[in-house]
Amino acid sequence: MVIQWFPGHMAKARREVSEQLKKVDVVFEIVDARIPESSRNPMMEDIIKHKPKVLILNKSDLAERDKTKQWIRHYESQGIIAIEIDSIHSQITSAIEQAAKRATTNIFERNEKKGIHKETIRALILGIPNVGKSTVINTLAKKGAAKTGNKPGVTKAQQWINVGKSLQLLDTPGILWPKFEREDIGLKLSLTGAIKDDIIHLDEVAIFALNYLIEHKYETLCEHYKIDFDRDGEVIDYFDQIGIKRGMKMKGNEINYELVIETIIRDVRNKKFGPITLELPNDELSDN
Ligand code: G4P
Repeated sequence: MVIQWFPGHMAKARREVSEQLKKVDVVFEIVDARIPESSRNPMMEDIIKHKPKVLILNKSDLAERDKTKQWIRHYESQGIIAIEIDSIHSQITSAIEQAAKRATTNIFERNEKKGIHKETIRALILGIPNVGKSTVINTLAKKGAAKTGNKPGVTKAQQWINVGKSLQLLDTPGILWPKFEREDIGLKLSLTGAIKDDIIHLDEVAIFALNYLIEHKYETLCEHYKIDFDRDGEVIDYFDQIGIKRGMKMKGNEINYELVIETIIRDVRNKKFGPITLELPNDELSDN
């Protein structure tokens, strides 16, 4: 999905999400486990206000396990309910249902005291594009849930998916814009595929990827391209070496840098260097 976010689009997204929020008890904010802070919408708290929230670190299969645990501890220490999921390869229904219960216990207890009895928790999935919102919804819908929307008075836009025994999920996710304010955030969003390849120069993304790999995955990098890179050498020389080794040449024997760049980025996204986490809680991050 290619969305160029202009102020008008942001205002519209915000309005639509505000409408969706009126229908639910809890928000599932989905982020990419490889970049949990950089893949959050900058105004999320402002938009959802005091609505209970569960932060879902999705794509945990692509992130480093111990670092994801570190993130979860970090969020929980801030009073944020956070869980990790891999919405493609594993069962997620019970983790999501449990987290929703945890997030809404206080509200439901308060309601009970006021004589308001509700058995079902209603939830909305929210996040920036490409973090896996639709995948989560589809996985939950397939795993044991019939849609409840075909009832009189329930319009198509308000379909609910039953998740487990106590949760109903709005079948349309809320889509918000990504952060734009810092260059490294843009590079991380691009490298993980959250923003499209024409927004940030791919050569910068590939250099960012190589610097990360040299620092964190040096042996795997050498092994994957079967090159003994000079650790202290110029990153730009790595492009030449990969191009030569892989025979990525154009007419006149020039190295096809575009192809080298695409290859590096694709290899990172396809887990050729194993799971990667591009940021940690103690890294300096903007906002939020
Ligand atoms: P969105 O609704 O938030 O925009 O995201 P969507 O579900 O469309 O997912 C974006 C991409 O991320 C999809 O890949 C999807 O398969 C992948 N994805 C979602 N959840 C997970 C997960 O838990 N693990 C892994 N490994 N991948 C996940 P795609 O269709 O190939 O799209 P793209 O990669 O070409 O953008």
